[in-house]
Amino acid sequence: MIYFNIEDIDKLDKVSRLNLINSITGFKPANLIGTISKENQENLAIFSSLVHLGSKPPLLGLVTRPNSVPRHTYTNIIESKFYTINHISDNIIERAHMTSAKFNRDESEFEKCNLEKEYIDDFHAPYVKESECKIGMKFIEEVKIKSNDTILIVGEIINVMIKQDSVAEDGSLDFEKLNSVCISGLDTYYKTQKIVKYPYARKKNIPKKWSR
Ligand SMILES: Cc1cc2nc3c(=O)[nH]c(=O)nc-3n(C[C@H](O)[C@H](O)[C@H](O)COP(=O)(O)O)c2cc1C
Repeated sequence: MIYFNIEDIDKLDKVSRLNLINSITGFKPANLIGTISKENQENLAIFSSLVHLGSKPPLLGLVTRPNSVPRHTYTNIIESKFYTINHISDNIIERAHMTSAKFNRDESEFEKCNLEKEYIDDFHAPYVKESECKIGMKFIEEVKIKSNDTILIVGEIINVMIKQDSVAEDGSLDFEKLNSVCISGLDTYYKTQKIVKYPYARKKNIPKKWSR
């Protein structure tokens, strides 16, 4: 095993430290966040910090970087209260990655990165047409993380749209059918493979002796 203590981590050059710490949590979900400003300017940005907060009510969290520079996604969510979360599938990885470039407020990443916007019913935020799993979200609250000035945006799921035949019988998403990818750090994308699925773990089913 390679061992790093906090002094070793502090001594790493900037890029190695960033790469190590950004990838240490393992695979992260790959999503595009679609928003619209009060002047009707659309925005799209890649986020990997999506986290499940609870299923009843259905809440998801997103961590946004400190507001030391203008953050269009954050500003639009606070202004309009609605946003979309769109899985990144394997055929749009490069275009999705490019949405992280610093575009001006009056530039739309949909246009600049060649992704098609889609409005569904009267939901007040744009979805990504190419995405195979899309979620319409309503802003609920923001929680300031005092330790580093990041912000946890808490939102409630208002609607979901999933590619035909990609919901398993038990209601979960079938990632064998969806082409959604995941992320390591800030620059590497992976496809995944199912290994096994277990029933709810109960103490009484723990084997008396493990094979290894
Ligand atoms: C793979 C990847 C994941 C990212 N995840 C996040 C994230 O979770 N939170 C965040 O604030 N920025 C994240 N970013 C950076 C934003 O995409 C970037 O700051 C973008 O310019 C924000 O655009 P906006 O100002 O239009 O919101 C990520 C970038 C990449 C390449």
